[in-house]
Amino acid sequence: MCGIIGAAGSDGGPDAIDVLFEGLSALEYRGYDSAGVALANSPLEVYKARGELEALRSTVPAAELRGRTTGIGHTRWSTHGPPSDANAHPHTDTDRRVAVVHNGIIENYQSLRDELIGAGVEFASDTDTEVVPHLIASQLDAGAEPEPAFRRAVDRIEGSYAIAAVFEGETGIYGVRNESPLVLGVGEETRYLASDVPAFIAQTDRVVYLEDGEFVHLTGDGVRVTDSSGRPVETSVETVDWDAEDTGKSGYDHYMLKEIHEQPTALRQCLRGRVDELRGEVTLEECSLEDAGRIQFVACGTSYHAALYGAALCRRNGVGATAYIASEYTTDRIPVDEETLVVGVTQSGETADTLRALREAGQAGARTLVVTNTVGSSATRACDETMYIRAGPEVGVAATKTFASQQLALTLLAGELSDSVSYADIKSLRAVPDQIQSVLDTSRARAVAEELVGSDAFFFIGRDLAYPVALEGALKCKEITYEHAEGFAAGELKHGPLALVTADTPVVAVVTGDGSTARKTLSNIKEVEARDAPVVVVTDGQSEAGRYADYVLEVPATDELNVAVVANVQLQLFAYWLANLMGRSIDKPRNLAKSVTVE
Ligand code: M6R
Repeated sequence: MCGIIGAAGSDGGPDAIDVLFEGLSALEYRGYDSAGVALANSPLEVYKARGELEALRSTVPAAELRGRTTGIGHTRWSTHGPPSDANAHPHTDTDRRVAVVHNGIIENYQSLRDELIGAGVEFASDTDTEVVPHLIASQLDAGAEPEPAFRRAVDRIEGSYAIAAVFEGETGIYGVRNESPLVLGVGEETRYLASDVPAFIAQTDRVVYLEDGEFVHLTGDGVRVTDSSGRPVETSVETVDWDAEDTGKSGYDHYMLKEIHEQPTALRQCLRGRVDELRGEVTLEECSLEDAGRIQFVACGTSYHAALYGAALCRRNGVGATAYIASEYTTDRIPVDEETLVVGVTQSGETADTLRALREAGQAGARTLVVTNTVGSSATRACDETMYIRAGPEVGVAATKTFASQQLALTLLAGELSDSVSYADIKSLRAVPDQIQSVLDTSRARAVAEELVGSDAFFFIGRDLAYPVALEGALKCKEITYEHAEGFAAGELKHGPLALVTADTPVVAVVTGDGSTARKTLSNIKEVEARDAPVVVVTDGQSEAGRYADYVLEVPATDELNVAVVANVQLQLFAYWLANLMGRSIDKPRNLAKSVTVE
C-alpha cells in the first residue's frame, strides 16, 4: 500500500524533483507515514523524512536539485518497522550505488537478511525492502552491470513487489512488478512509472499497464519492457479518459466531500449504455454471465458491504448468493465447482485479501468476475471477466462514490443474472442520481452532527437492504472520526448491543417504506428511545419514523430496491461533518491506507 513514482527524462527536460513531489502528493492516499526521493546523479542524492509529505519537502534542498531529470520517490504505509526516517524509502546499499523503492512485501526477507548479514552487510533499517539494494550491490561487486544485477536480485526475492531502482552514474530507472501495481506513463520528453495513474496524469494520459513478471527500463529516450528471461515484450499504449482536474479537489475542502458530491455523475456513468428502459433490459457487454450457478461474493471493508448488498439483491431475484469477507474465504472451507461464479468486489482491484480469494477460487475451478473501479488493476488480470463501476478516480481513503457505484453495478449484475429486470426497475434506477442530488442539496446532516458531536459512541441500525448500509454508515463514522461506531441489524439490538445504549450514544436508524420491515425497525427505535438514546432517522417519510426521532434526515421516496443507495448519502455526510467538527484528518485517516496490498 505504499506509493511509487519515477520520472526518467533527458537533459534539459523537466526537473524530476517537481514531478516526484507532484506524483507523491497524488499517491498519498496509498500511505503517508513517511516519504523519500532519490535523484539519479553521481553520487546519488537521497532524501527521506518521517511524517506526511510536507516533512520531506522541508528536508529537500529543491533549488540545489534543479537540472536532475531522473529520480524515484515513495510514500510509505508501514508493514516492517515503524514509521521513521531510517525506515522510509528509498533504501540504498552501503556504498550508495543503488537506491530502491518498493511496494509490497518480500516474504523471504528474513533469510535473505540473515545471509547478507553473514556476508558482512550492515542494515540501516528494519524494512524487508532493504535486502534489495544489498542484493543488487552484491551482484555489482561480482562484476555485473546494473541491469543484470537488478534482475538477479529480483530473482532471489519472493512475495509481492513493485520495485523501482536508480543507479549511481546511470540516467535511467529499472522497474519490475509482481502482484503489486506498476503502470508506465509515456510523455513527450519524460517517461514515468508509478503505482497508479494519478501520480503522473498531470504530465501524460498515455499509459502502459505492466503485467506480473515484467521488467522495464525507462530513460528519457524511451521505455523497454522485457519478460523475466529478458525477451522484449510488446506493449500497447492506452489513453485514460480522465485528467488532472478529476483528481483535484475542485474547490471542496476535502476529497471525501468532493467525491460524495460526485455521486450523481458517477452513477450516471455506471448506468450509461447498460440499461434499456424501453426493452426493460440490462446489457453488461463486457462480461458473459450465462449459466452461472451459485454466486459467491468476496470483498473487504466498504466493498464487503456492497457485496452484502449485492448478495441480498441476488437472493431477492431468486439467485443463490452469499457474501464472504475475503480474508475469511478459502476454498477448502467454502467449496466451489465450475458452476460457481465468484465475484470479487474491489474499488482498487489491488486488495491483497480479495486478490488471493479470487485466485484461489479460480485455481479451484470456479469462474471469476471482478467488479472494480480500476482499469488494468491486478484483479482484472486475475479474473476471467471484469465489470467496471466507472466511478472515476477516488482519492479520499474513505470510500464514498465507489460504494454507491458498486451498489448500482451490483443491482445491474443481480438483474442480469436473474433476467428479471422490468421497465419500472430501470426507470427507478435512472432516477437514483437525481435523488442523490436532491439529498446533497438539502441534507441537514451538518446540523445534526453539530448537535451530536462529542457523544460517547454512534450506533447504526437497518434491516434487509438497509442493513449493509448501516454497517457502512458505522464504518465511515469510525474511520474518519476515530470514535466508537457500530452497525447492527436492527433486530439484533435486543440480543446484546442494547446494553451499550445510553443517553450519550445516538442511534441512527435507516427506515424507508412503510411495509413490515419498516414497522419492525420502528419497534427497535422505540426500544432505544426508551433507553434515552438520541434517535436520528434516515427516512423517506412513508412510515411514522419521523414521529419517534429527535432528528430526521430525509431522502426522497423511491423504489424500495434503490432507496438504500440514496439513504447512504445522508450517512456519508453525517460522518463527514462529525469528523470535520472534530478537526480530524478526513482524507487520510489515522493508520489507514486507500489500497491495502498486504494480507
Ligand atoms: O479497494 P477495495 O475496495 O478492495 O478496498 C477494500 C477496503 O480496504 C476499503 O473498502 C476500505 O474499507 C475503505 N477505504 C473504507 O472506506
